[in-house]
Amino acid sequence: MKSYTIALMPGDGIGPEIIAEGVKVIEKAGELFGFKVEWRKYDNGADKYLATGELITEETLRDIRKNCKAIYLGAFGDPRVKPGILEKGILLKTRFYFDQFVNLRPVKLLEGVECPLKGKGPKDVDFTVVRENTEDFYVGIGNRAKIGKSKQELSVLRSLYQVKFGLDIETQGSEIAYQIGVLSRKGSERVIRYAFELAKKNKADKVYAVDKANVLSDVYGFWREVVLDVAKGYPGITPEFAFVDAITMWFVKNPEWFKVVVAPNMFGDIITDLGAMIQGGLGLAPGGNINPGGISMFEPIHGSAPKYKGLNVANPLATIWAGALMLEEIGEKKAASAIVDTIASVVKEGKVRTKDLGGNNTTRETGDEVVRRLDDFG
Ligand code: IPM
Ligand code: MN
Repeated sequence: MKSYTIALMPGDGIGPEIIAEGVKVIEKAGELFGFKVEWRKYDNGADKYLATGELITEETLRDIRKNCKAIYLGAFGDPRVKPGILEKGILLKTRFYFDQFVNLRPVKLLEGVECPLKGKGPKDVDFTVVRENTEDFYVGIGNRAKIGKSKQELSVLRSLYQVKFGLDIETQGSEIAYQIGVLSRKGSERVIRYAFELAKKNKADKVYAVDKANVLSDVYGFWREVVLDVAKGYPGITPEFAFVDAITMWFVKNPEWFKVVVAPNMFGDIITDLGAMIQGGLGLAPGGNINPGGISMFEPIHGSAPKYKGLNVANPLATIWAGALMLEEIGEKKAASAIVDTIASVVKEGKVRTKDLGGNNTTRETGDEVVRRLDDFG
């Protein structure tokens, strides 16, 4: 029997509860479709950080590289830790380390789920956002400076201000902060190509590329250029451009326009929270951090929801769905689509529902129901 070793990182808050349901469902899928999963657990997260100061070490990442086929992740974030420490120190670090350059975020409204958009149903909300996942404003180049801080730092900033903006830092007040977004041709091209390949596979005739080329024209003008270059290789697929502010409006007004959307990292982050809402809420939105041919990582796109920790009320379906994306990526396609079909049927039937979907079932009951119903699709 085929066997996969998967890194399991439950993380913080509701992470352990939802990931437990995902594990149950994947194991059941393994029984039905003939594969075994060996879980290799990593306890990175707030508790470990507070106890030892460790976020995620090179050694841990190497251990994952050496032993695991993929990573299954709950969520990070804890009120005891300053925002950004765990997110950057564990989640982003891992995405970058494994060069998971595609953040794949399906936006699919299931039947039986209430859509906040008036008059829109499952056939209108069914697309995928391909978010770039390693560059843009996420590269971590930025700083703050105060006059009187360090002379050297100040002089770098003074010239940056003068050369780039014609501004004199002294007259702009005594303190500044900046963050630089960087796109590379290779980094843009590979994710845009992924989006066009997805469009080809899904028989979509357009790819919508998101930017803000009207203002941030250096970085996103470049992005547009790469989109046009890549599009030349796909004669049946038209590249359409959408400014990020406008696309948020179209997601709400005309979601049926979209099949495949490709976005730079930060805009992709923002529009996929909106995507999650129009597909019925964060409890139903899965994501995959993908390096085709490398080690990919799968997670719900929601956070660790600390106030629900330990209450057994969180919706595990996003995490279970993320597990299906993981099985798809490692080649267990039948198991993956059976899980997605089961989620769809559980939601449609509506007998078992967590609070976010208007029911009062628990996290565990929802996971159990998916496990039980998976039999019908096995
Ligand atoms: C997401 C999250 C992360 C991101 C944070 C937690 C670093 O918002 O996965 O969408 O910005 O990518
Ligand atoms: Mn986000």
